Amino acid sequence: MTTIALTPKRLDIAALEQKVKAMYRDVALEPQGEFHFEMGRALAERLGYAPSDLEAIPAPAIDSFAGVGYYFDLAALKPGEAVADLGSGSGMDSFLAARKVGEHGRVIGIDMTDEQLAKSERLRAAAGFAQIEFRKGYIESTGLADESCHAVISNGVVNLSPDKHVVFREAARLLKRGGRLALSDIVTEVQLPEGITCNATLWAACIGGAMQVGDYVAAIESAGLRVRTVRDNPAYQFISDNAQGATRKYGVKSVSILAVKE
Ligand SMILES: C[S@@+](CC[C@H](N)C(=O)[O-])C[C@H]1O[C@@H](n2cnc3c(N)ncnc32)[C@H](O)[C@@H]1O
Repeated sequence: MTTIALTPKRLDIAALEQKVKAMYRDVALEPQGEFHFEMGRALAERLGYAPSDLEAIPAPAIDSFAGVGYYFDLAALKPGEAVADLGSGSGMDSFLAARKVGEHGRVIGIDMTDEQLAKSERLRAAAGFAQIEFRKGYIESTGLADESCHAVISNGVVNLSPDKHVVFREAARLLKRGGRLALSDIVTEVQLPEGITCNATLWAACIGGAMQVGDYVAAIESAGLRVRTVRDNPAYQFISDNAQGATRKYGVKSVSILAVKE
C-alpha cells in the first residue's frame, strides 16, 4: 500500500485514487445525481462564464462541469497558443480554451478517469474541435514536452492531488518562459484537521485535500512561478451539510490564481 504522511495519520493514496475516479465517473455519466458540490450551467454562469461562450460548446460538457471558479480573464488566452488543461473532466474548459486559441492553437486535456475522457472525446469528435486532444494521464506527470505550453489551466483539480508540489513543478516544466498558470481551486483559511484530511470521501469531494491558501501560494512559487493574482470566488458554495460545516469551520473556499513563469 502506498501512503504519504499527512501529519500525523496516513492517507491511502491508491484508495484515494479509486474514490476520486468513482466520483468523477458518476460526474461524467450521471451529472443529475447527488453530489457534495454543484455542477452544470447555472453554476458556470454564477461563477462568471459568459452565456454566449457556453452556447458555443457541447451542452453535455456543461452538464458535467464540476469546476469551482472562473479564471479565463486571468489566463488571457490568445489565438495560436498551446494550452494544457490539467484534469479536463468532461471538457468544458478545454472547449472554451479551444475557441480562444482558435484553429491554429492547440489544447491538450489530461484526465485520469476513463469515463470523463470518453465523454469529452465523444463530444470533441462530434463537434469537430480538431485543435483539442484529450489524453489519459496524471496531472503530476503529464508526459508532455518541456516548455511546450503558453498556458496551463485547471479547474477544481489540484486539491485532489496528494502532492500539490509535484503538480506545480509539472506545470512550471510545461510552461514556456512568460507562460501563465491560471486556475481555480479549493483552499482553506486554516489547516484542516486530520479527521478531514484522512477522509477519502471528503477528499474526493474537493474538501479533504484542500491546502491552506498561504501554503498553496508558496507551493506555486517554490515551483519557480511568480504568483500575480489570488482572487476569492464567493459565488462558489458546497451543497451538502457535511461540506458546508467544514466550509464554515475551516474557511474552505474557492480561489482563482494567476502565476507566471518569468
Ligand atoms: C472536480 S473535477 C473537475 C473537472 C473539470 N476541470 C471541470 O471543471 O469540470 C476533477 C477532475 O480531475 C480529475 N483528476 C483528479 N485527480 C487527477 C490526477 N491526479 N490526474 C489526472 N486527473 C485527475 C478527475 O478525474 C476529474 O475529472
